[in-house]
Amino acid sequence: MATDLSLELLRVAEQAAIACAHTMGQGDRHGSDQAAVEAMRRTLDTVPIDGTIVIGEGERDEAPMLFIGEKVGLGASGVKGLPEVDIAVDPLEGTNLCALGTNDAIAVLAAASKGGMLHAPDLYMEKLVVGPRAKHAVSLDRSTKDNLKSIAKALDRDVDDLVIIVLDRPRHEKLISDIRSAGARIKLIGDGDLSASIAAAVDGSGIHAVMGTGGAPEGVLTAAAMRCLGGEILARLVIKKPEDEERCRKMGIEDVRRIYSAEDLAAGQNITFAATGVTDGALMKGVRFFGHGTRTSSIVMQNEPHQIRFIDTIHVTERGDDLRIRF
Ligand code: FBP
Repeated sequence: MATDLSLELLRVAEQAAIACAHTMGQGDRHGSDQAAVEAMRRTLDTVPIDGTIVIGEGERDEAPMLFIGEKVGLGASGVKGLPEVDIAVDPLEGTNLCALGTNDAIAVLAAASKGGMLHAPDLYMEKLVVGPRAKHAVSLDRSTKDNLKSIAKALDRDVDDLVIIVLDRPRHEKLISDIRSAGARIKLIGDGDLSASIAAAVDGSGIHAVMGTGGAPEGVLTAAAMRCLGGEILARLVIKKPEDEERCRKMGIEDVRRIYSAEDLAAGQNITFAATGVTDGALMKGVRFFGHGTRTSSIVMQNEPHQIRFIDTIHVTERGDDLRIRF
C-alpha cells in the first residue's frame, strides 16, 4: 500500500499559507511569494519522502528553491528507503490577491508516484474545467456556445443559469463575448484559475465551469485536484514560437498540440492534493490570526483511498488559561 501523505502535505500547505498570510495587503507580491516559498520548502524538508519537484517555481537557473528537478523531503538530506514521489507546488497561487488582500489566494501542492504528473513547461495552456456531472459534456474542439449548451444540459439547468469563471485578460476578449452572447453569466477574476477550478468541481459553489488560457503548471495541479474530485480539465498547450516547442521537447512532450484530460496530466494512481486558504475563498476561509494561535482552512484529497477532507485547524502558538476555542 502507498504511504499516506495527506496529513504531511496538509502541514506543508498550512505553513506556506500562514507565512504569506502575514504579508496580506502589504502590496508586496514578491515578498508574499517569497514567504510562502520559504515556508513550503522548509516544511517539505521534514516530510518522509524522496521527493522531486516536477512543477515548481521555475527552472533551476531562475528559482532559488522549489525549482524543477530539486530534491525535497527527508530523502534530500540522506535518509534512505523513503517512497519516491513527484511533487507539484504552487506555494502561493494568486500573489497579487494576497498582496492586495482580495479573495481566493491559496497555498497548494500535490504528490504522485514517480512519473505520475506531466512535467509541464511554464507556458500558457488553454483550459476548460467542469465538475463531475458535466465531465463528458465538453470538448476543446467545440464552440463555446456548444460547450455551454452541453454543460447546462448535464447540470439540468438553462444556459443563462450558468456562472463561468474567466481570467480578466485582454486575450479573453473573444471568449468573454462568446459566453455573453450564448447567454451565460460570467465571473471575471484577477488571478487564480486553480482555486476557481476546484470550486467549479464542487456542487454548491455557484461556479459551473472555468474557461480560458492560464498557466500550464496550474493546469497540472488542477488535473491532480480533478482526479480526486471527479471533475475534468481539458487542456492544450499554447505554443507561440519555435522556442516553446523546444522547451516542451526538452521536458519530454513530443505532441505539443495534444489535448490533455485530467488523467493525462495527472496519470498517477496515488495522488494526494492539499490546499490551504490564504485569503477567503469559495470553499476555504483565509488564515486568521488571534491572541494564542492561528486558524487555517484546507482541502486535502486523495484518489486512493478516495477521500476528500475539509480540515479546519487551530494552531495553538501560546498556551494560556484563557485559551478560547470557538466552534
Ligand atoms: P500567480 O500565482 O503567479 O500569482 O499567478 C496566478 C495566475 O493567475 C494563475 O491562476 C493563472 O493560471 C495565471 O496566473 C495566469 O497568468 P497571467 O497572469 O500571465 O495571465
